[in-house]
Amino acid sequence: MDVHWKRDDDEHWLSGFLEREWGGTTMVVHDEEIPMLPLPTLIAGEREGIAIIRDGDPADLVLLHVMSQNAGIGTALLTALSDHLRARGVKTLRVTTTNDNLEALRFYQRRGFRLRTLRSNAVEAARRLKPSIPLIAQNGIPISDALDLELDLTRPH
Ligand SMILES: CC(C)(COP(=O)(O)OP(=O)(O)OC[C@H]1O[C@@H](n2cnc3c(N)ncnc32)[C@H](O)[C@@H]1OP(=O)(O)O)[C@@H](O)C(=O)NCCC(=O)NCCS
Repeated sequence: MDVHWKRDDDEHWLSGFLEREWGGTTMVVHDEEIPMLPLPTLIAGEREGIAIIRDGDPADLVLLHVMSQNAGIGTALLTALSDHLRARGVKTLRVTTTNDNLEALRFYQRRGFRLRTLRSNAVEAARRLKPSIPLIAQNGIPISDALDLELDLTRPH
């Protein structure tokens, strides 16, 4: 699958997508509001998935989202991102997800991420900054806790 960096003509679509699916163009992580539109963003295929990152070491995977699940798109994005970061000498990739997101917890751990921190009730604080964060996930689990995971990019893959 083709994975490429976003282009100028993706901006309008990306902003609409983030508003629709994520309640806005900011992500709240560690009590910080991160505007996502200025960040480097990988796009899979014909806008079939996105990975938004924040540079640094550790680098942050701010958002990974695919439009049709279980078709290998998330894996393709994560592989492209890891290759890019390794080539730049970055050692660690971090991601934060929430307690309800069983699919993401499975997906990341299957791909070498290790759980690092459980921040109980962190979503309550995040909701004060971004009230659009839902109270209950579609699977019925209340969204309340943040889980930080890390991928060691120096290990063989
Ligand atoms: C978490 C998420 C990004 C995973 O992406 P995905 O594209 O569904 O993941 P993949 O398809 O690459 O892999 C998932 C499963 O699909 C199956 N799969 C992978 N490639 C496949 C292929 N070519 N054909 C059929 N099935 C395939 C595998 O069974 C894989 O399971 P495994 O992890 O046990 O190997 C996706 O579920 C998502 O967008 N969720 C909503 C947004 C979200 O919550 N993001 C995380 C918070 S930051």
